Amino acid sequence: MSKIEFLSLGKQPITNNFLTEQNPEQEFFYNLNIVYDENTKVVSLANFVPPEKMFNETYAHRASMSITMQNANKKLSEDIKKEINPKSVLEIGSNDGVFLKNFSNILSIGVEPCKNLAKITTSMNIKTYDQFWSIELSKKILENHGKFELIYSANTISHIHDLSNALKAIEILLSDNGIFILEDPSLSEVIKNISYDQFYDEHAYVFSVLAIKNLLKETELEIFNIEKLSTHGGSNRVFIKKKKNNIKISANLNKAIDYELKIGIDKFETYQKFANKVENSKTETLKIFTKIKKKNLKIIGYGATYKSSTILNYCGLDTKYIEYFVDTTENKQGKFTPGTHIPIIKPNLEINPDVHFAFLGAWNFKNEIFNKEQNFINRGGKFITHVPYPQII
Ligand code: TMP
Repeated sequence: MSKIEFLSLGKQPITNNFLTEQNPEQEFFYNLNIVYDENTKVVSLANFVPPEKMFNETYAHRASMSITMQNANKKLSEDIKKEINPKSVLEIGSNDGVFLKNFSNILSIGVEPCKNLAKITTSMNIKTYDQFWSIELSKKILENHGKFELIYSANTISHIHDLSNALKAIEILLSDNGIFILEDPSLSEVIKNISYDQFYDEHAYVFSVLAIKNLLKETELEIFNIEKLSTHGGSNRVFIKKKKNNIKISANLNKAIDYELKIGIDKFETYQKFANKVENSKTETLKIFTKIKKKNLKIIGYGATYKSSTILNYCGLDTKYIEYFVDTTENKQGKFTPGTHIPIIKPNLEINPDVHFAFLGAWNFKNEIFNKEQNFINRGGKFITHVPYPQII
């Protein structure tokens, strides 16, 4: 057995399952355990959750909800036009069109299995296939549109259980001079920030660059460049080409892998140490919440992210600690957080005056939130975060 378990984050619900009633009769839970594969260096969930349970017509996440993400997508699109100037683009996991809307003057196709999201991009005149990414779908798209000069996929490939099928499907549709850009949370950032909330049902994998390199060995594809991104709490943007395409391989690739090897990404011991730090993070987080509640002060949650579901359920942070969450995503409002059943409401122009502390569920948008909540900060309001260690800010 090459896969070894190193972390157990307990019983967890479906992160996208925002509840319409506070105490539902039945709620699906699974064991969130994390494993390391000694052969491929791939870190993944031990038990995958059936995709239909997560990616369906009730999918709540809207990529356009944050200004940070809108700006990041606009900037990337401009860079792509300048540097690659593709004639065709395919996005795997097109969500609400935050990326593809910037390519209205070339052939742009979306793939999005969540039917509610596919409807949004279809209504924006972007041809969208509302199916799961697979070899079968790739062959169908090839027949209808030919090969693509750019394939882009952000925060989606790490969701796909059968990676060998997903990568083959990309190989089929990518033109010989084409570029595939993959973005997913970075394992080295998770280790550095103890951001264990990157592990949840949808994130079947959290990739290191080394793991992606190893996975591509089985294919006609290879990495030729890497960029580090601060979005989503630290991601890698990985540029991939066909092996026969002679684009120069950037020194960034070896630099990224050297760094990963330096922090021991290829050693099981690293993951054991990480697991100890996660347990410690839970203890310290609970200490902070308990201390505040002893003083009868009011804590709310800020951003009912999928990530925060892992923290809330792992640490047992429910309505005893957090009165409600504010979240700008309309279809989370009026609902309850999965597993912990905390009400989610629409944010007011500013945080209510009776609130003393706000737990940063959306810690990856800290700067955007701090800018917005200057009044709360000025009147002495504080934020709680668990990254890179549990603290009050
Ligand atoms: P994400 O980290 O999965 O992209 O989700 C971010 C969530 O946080 C999303 O539901 C919107 C919410 N949010 C707020 O409620 N207020 C904010 O200012 C920001 C930036 C995000």
